[in-house]
Amino acid sequence: MRHDVVVVGSINVDLVVQVGRHPAPGETVLGRGSTTMPGGKGANQAVAAARLGAGVAMVGAVGTDAYADVALSGLREAGVDLAHVRTAGTATGLAIVTVADDGENAIVVVPGANGAVTPAVVDAAAPLLARARVCVLQAEIPVASVVRAAETAHRRGVRVVLNVAPATPLPREVLALADPLVVNEHEAATLLGRPVADSQQAAEELAALGVPSVVVTLGAAGVLGRDRGGPWSLPALAVEPRDTTGAGDAFVGALATRLAAGDTVRQAAQHATRAAAASVTWLGAQPSYPWKGDRLP
Ligand code: RIB
Repeated sequence: MRHDVVVVGSINVDLVVQVGRHPAPGETVLGRGSTTMPGGKGANQAVAAARLGAGVAMVGAVGTDAYADVALSGLREAGVDLAHVRTAGTATGLAIVTVADDGENAIVVVPGANGAVTPAVVDAAAPLLARARVCVLQAEIPVASVVRAAETAHRRGVRVVLNVAPATPLPREVLALADPLVVNEHEAATLLGRPVADSQQAAEELAALGVPSVVVTLGAAGVLGRDRGGPWSLPALAVEPRDTTGAGDAFVGALATRLAAGDTVRQAAQHATRAAAASVTWLGAQPSYPWKGDRLP
């Protein structure tokens, strides 16, 4: 079976705590409530793509604990193919997500079973990858596995969407396989090895490393990029933010969906901006993602 999108990446449970404001180091604040929901950058991107109508398969791992079911629930609901999701003899990946009144979040991730997504697991999924239109990668599984998946997909002529989140240094040869490379300003700074003062300039410098196309997400300031058609930028859409958790993942999942359907990077980014804007109006990552046919901002 051929999938539009194959995601190789993390699967977590998000323990989401709502607070008035984030605590300073050494400070205690009282939370207003807490809830668990499915998360993980890889799973989030898979769910975002599947909800928007793409045929999606996930390559990843969960643990043997009760959290595994929660972690997989959003993927199951969205109809993602889970044949290549393994059970590792350890805890499911866990993210402690604190969401403040202004919608901004702070996240600590304990990778757990995501560490079991080894290059050998990627090799076992090579036939699946070879039949995909788009392979989507992030950086919450071992770096060696991200590299192996990018090389495997690229060698088979499959488009690689590489979202270097969380910020992780990667070899230039791997960045050059990404079409597009998707980063925020912080991640761009990590890849360039210095602070970013001008985001468009950062996109140009990443492109100069041999990356075919680059997308830099700027949160409330929109998104910009550089592809074969030259540099471009798109404004953010005006929405009232309730929780920005996973908005970047909604963007990447929607982007991959449209790239698999034949859009240019810029066209796909335009659509992805709308999906990401919709996602910040609801609490959580996956529960906030739009379904195909929903009205978008
Ligand atoms: O990008 C948001 C995600 O980051 C959360 O769902 C959390 O699990 C962490 O992986």
